[in-house]
Amino acid sequence: MKIAVLNGSPKGEVSVTMQYVHFLEQRFPEAEFKFFDVALKIKKLEKDDKAFQEIISGIGAADAVLWAFPLYFLVVCSQYKRFIELIFEKNATPVFRGKPAACVTTSINFFDYTAHNYINAVCDDLQMNYFGSYSAEMNDLLKTKERQRLKKFGELFIKAIKEGTPAIRNNKPLVAPEVVFEAEKITPVETEGKKVLIVVDNLTENPNLQKMVERLQQTFSPTAELVQLKDVDIKGGCLGCIQCGFDNVCVYEGKDGFSDFLNTKIKTADIIFIAGAIHDRYLSSLWKCFFDRSFFNGHTPFLKDKQIGFVISGPFNQIYNLREIFEASMGVQQAGIAGFVSDDLGSSAEINIALQSMASRSVAQSKLGYISPPTFYQVAGNKLFRDAIWGRLRPVFQADHRYYKEHGMYNFPQKHYKWRIINSILVLLTKIPAVRREFIKRIKVEMIKPCANALKKTE
Ligand SMILES: Cc1cc2nc3c(=O)[nH]c(=O)nc-3n(C[C@H](O)[C@H](O)[C@H](O)COP(=O)(O)O)c2cc1C
Repeated sequence: MKIAVLNGSPKGEVSVTMQYVHFLEQRFPEAEFKFFDVALKIKKLEKDDKAFQEIISGIGAADAVLWAFPLYFLVVCSQYKRFIELIFEKNATPVFRGKPAACVTTSINFFDYTAHNYINAVCDDLQMNYFGSYSAEMNDLLKTKERQRLKKFGELFIKAIKEGTPAIRNNKPLVAPEVVFEAEKITPVETEGKKVLIVVDNLTENPNLQKMVERLQQTFSPTAELVQLKDVDIKGGCLGCIQCGFDNVCVYEGKDGFSDFLNTKIKTADIIFIAGAIHDRYLSSLWKCFFDRSFFNGHTPFLKDKQIGFVISGPFNQIYNLREIFEASMGVQQAGIAGFVSDDLGSSAEINIALQSMASRSVAQSKLGYISPPTFYQVAGNKLFRDAIWGRLRPVFQADHRYYKEHGMYNFPQKHYKWRIINSILVLLTKIPAVRREFIKRIKVEMIKPCANALKKTE
């Protein structure tokens, strides 16, 4: 049995993820694992069709495909994303059809499931027999119980390959919107001193996107600034070297214009619109590259207090996972969301209304400094980062550690001494049956008591 391993780490063989695949390779000698470093070699694969076709033949000769990759900004890295785009662009899809597939990822478990949803959907689009996803925390391989778990996953996958088990499809094919968007009824929105920036990957690639972006740009008075990512000097995707962890300086600094672009354009804007077209189940790999390369800011919220809107062409409303990725990313960034407008939301007239409404909302929210309260994404995400940076990741992410300390983000519950004392006393007292009865009787009233005090306040 041959398994083609599509390595999605920009670090190639020197990758944490690959060690998990080597574990499977050792445990299942009956399977021959063939490794393809598609993320590391993406530039060559883009230019050299022969090199790309060799990989496709390797996949064709295999009995199954293992997508093995690290999490990069809730999905795959931009280089891997580009490889997936090439499969569709170069019509290499037939070799994938009907082939069993699975994915193994390593991460710190921050939105690992959105990456799994993504790759599952890509496999469904490729009509593969998707068996399932395995999310390993970076250090799981060091734990006996986790090695046993991974081995079981391997066993089940190999059984599915042998038996040709059909996939349970989780994603329907996407239907592209047919609407032709035409701008109409523009009511100017005064920016009132707020700096509005629209960033699009490539304006000329998609007529609806171009017209929606131009309509939005003209809605603002003065007109919003427009930047195309294709014009930004970006030499390549994030290399995963983590050199930036020390002091937020990217390894590309001085070699290309990305850090400069982020620091001077993005960080100085009050309102930012992210505009692009759907490519497979995400935006383009260029947009993915933007997010990956922003990693030089570590886990600090570089979009904090900005208002972010999305202008998307394509079947966005059929990809709930993508909305979740953006909502979660912006939540963790402590940014406000002005809205999502895509050309699959309705007629041209409805899209016009939505763009108009998003423009006014972005300014109104920005003026008030309104950021919606944190939901599970931000609350849970921040706790996960807090614990990781305080703990094991601190030597690598020293800049994050400084930021977290300075901004009160090390808000561990153990530090709430008053409540620790109150809790200990209450827990002890409620062991007495009469006190417990009284406690239960009063619990509802006691819960709203602090609100009564808050309601008396004027602010
Ligand atoms: C640019 C970048 C983005 C990352 N994004 C995520 C993420 O969204 N979620 C997560 O849990 N880990 C994230 N990580 C951590 C990596 O997924 C993790 O370190 C992984 O084990 C690296 O695997 P590799 O050595 O095979 O490349 C990110 C790392 C980098 C460098």
